[in-house]
Amino acid sequence: MQLNNSVKIATRIDSFLLSRLKGEPSDLYKAARYLIEHGGKRLRPYLVLKSCELLGGSIKQAIPAAAAVEMIHNFTLVHDDIMDKDEVRHGVPTVHMKFGIPVGILSGDLLFSKAFEIISDSTCVPNDVSLSLISTLSRACSDVCEGQVLDISMAQSRTIPTEPQYIKMIEKKTSSLFVASCAMGALSANTTKSDVRRLAIYGKNLGIAFQIVDDLIGIIGDPRITKKPVGNDIREGKKSLPILLAIKLAEGKEKTTILDAFGNISTSKTKVRRAVEVISSLGIEKAIRKKASYHLDTAKKSISRYDNPARKDLLSLLDFVVERSL
Ligand code: IPE
Ligand code: IPE
Ligand code: MG
Ligand code: MG
Repeated sequence: MQLNNSVKIATRIDSFLLSRLKGEPSDLYKAARYLIEHGGKRLRPYLVLKSCELLGGSIKQAIPAAAAVEMIHNFTLVHDDIMDKDEVRHGVPTVHMKFGIPVGILSGDLLFSKAFEIISDSTCVPNDVSLSLISTLSRACSDVCEGQVLDISMAQSRTIPTEPQYIKMIEKKTSSLFVASCAMGALSANTTKSDVRRLAIYGKNLGIAFQIVDDLIGIIGDPRITKKPVGNDIREGKKSLPILLAIKLAEGKEKTTILDAFGNISTSKTKVRRAVEVISSLGIEKAIRKKASYHLDTAKKSISRYDNPARKDLLSLLDFVVERSL
């Protein structure tokens, strides 16, 4: 599924982003550019620009906010791969595998600070709007930290969380940046607080659905498409909704196969692969995609009052998120 104008938007964002990531020492800047240069869907900048357009703003007004959000997103990915001990993303070695952990951490920090520099320097919006952009983005960054700690502590705990606890965790670690993307797009259009609130509700529900599906394709997905390895969440003991559902549904030998690999950091690749096979055979995909689509209805309703071509694009994005295999 091709999102309307997404390639053009991505190209524009990329050239802005990369122009801001030049400097010395070259290894640091190379590491900061590396993940961006190797792919990514650019969903968050797309959301910033479409939210701004929906409310009558121009793309130009929202470009700095869109670029800043994408930098923050990449910063979280670089640090996340260190925390999750993941070795491949976008089909290439992760930043810390390629440049080492210290440069990995620092390139993430660089992306973080450049993001705030971009929105503070921007002359595309009035100063009071810039301040609101900064506060919205900082709030999202704190939420991501809180969510990542919840994710890690849930993984380390033997307790199986409830579905609402899982949703709270993904709301913080993932949805918060989707909220910020939509709110920052709305803020860039220099519109009312109610508009910003409505777009934030859209982003929150989209973000929850996005992570539910991400957790699904992290297990039953095709690594040639996702360009990320499958099954690592099993080894790491990640309490993702698809895994929780699979554990609930499995019986006898199948359950033992999943539980043997789950949260066992020294499990062999073969055992993880077997657990993946068992989970795939349980037919959880339909149920999980349905759970994701439940959140889309709320998202749809929150933008129903707007009559603008961008609404169609934002609605298509919702379908993309639930149907996606990438
Ligand atoms: C990956 O996000 C991290 C999660 C929040 C699950 P994306 O799938 O949007 O990352 P890109 O497309 O590689 O940038
Ligand atoms: C993504 O978390 C959330 C953030 C990066 C903050 P995951 O760990 O679930 O995502 P992937 O699978 O590594 O992309
Ligand atoms: Mg991860
Ligand atoms: Mg993680």
